[in-house]
Amino acid sequence: MRPPKSTRIPRKGAIIVTIQNLVKSVLSAALLTALSSGVLAEGSVQAGQAKAAACAACHGPTGNDSVLPNVPKLGGQGERYLVKQLHEIKADIRKVPLMAPFVAALSEKDMLDLAAYFASLEAPRGAVEKAKLELGRKLYSAGDAKLGVAACLACHAPDGKGIASAGFPALSGQDTPYVELQLKSFRSGDRNNDQSNVMRMVSARLNDKEIAALASYVAGLH
Ligand code: HEC
Ligand code: HEC
Repeated sequence: MRPPKSTRIPRKGAIIVTIQNLVKSVLSAALLTALSSGVLAEGSVQAGQAKAAACAACHGPTGNDSVLPNVPKLGGQGERYLVKQLHEIKADIRKVPLMAPFVAALSEKDMLDLAAYFASLEAPRGAVEKAKLELGRKLYSAGDAKLGVAACLACHAPDGKGIASAGFPALSGQDTPYVELQLKSFRSGDRNNDQSNVMRMVSARLNDKEIAALASYVAGLH
């Protein structure tokens, strides 16, 4: 179901401009952050490994092999993005009740160490369902100007590895049902921890079929 036309993006003619401005402003804001704050404070991979034992119950020993549905793969994910999520899950800004008890006691240093550790692990590999390849590729690489959907590659990179220094997450190899769930949560606004509404804007006009195609497509990207 598409959201009502009146919400957020009112006029068709304005859509393309809005999206272009959005991509520009998010990219330049991220670049500024990366330049001004420099690299993230250093976490220790070794210390992170010891602290990650508790995470393995759900994220698996390699960070990429959960047995539960809808648990994201964390291997090779960007540190800046990981730290941001840990902060926001702890603060209940991003609501993950299942994981909340495991982050409640984490200090700033713990989060940096855990992020350094998961970022150091091998990135996941997945596969795209053939029937979803074409639509997924089209939306990922070109977006849909008529619907006001920005091309994903502008921020998540052509190979799906994201832009780690800007905090734009890697999507390649990610669990398909998890990606589908996140896109739907952004679309409904249940997940609203994206800076400048960026993912809520991008997903606002995607229908379920388009979301399923994108979720399958990014799993196979590398
Ligand atoms: C009881 C299961 C469980 C445990 C234990 C757990 N997590 Fe999670 N984690 C989840 C689920 C489920 C999600 C996805 C929630 C959603 O749908 O938004 C998640 C999401 C995340 C995310 C966001 C990833 C992304 O791509 O946005 C990070 C980072 C994360 N977990 C790190 C950790 C760390 C570090 C630990 C250990 C301190 C941990 N988790 C322990 C279940 C768990
Ligand atoms: C203008 C930049 C931008 C564009 C364009 C963009 N994204 Fe994103 N995306 C982001 C940012 C930034 C985040 C991280 C939000 C946060 O901090 O929680 C994100 C997060 C996500 C996530 C959640 C990842 C996770 O591990 O939980 C998914 C899935 C996603 N984007 C898919 C897409 C798809 C599919 C498209 C194209 C239809 C797209 N994005 C277009 C910037 C963008």
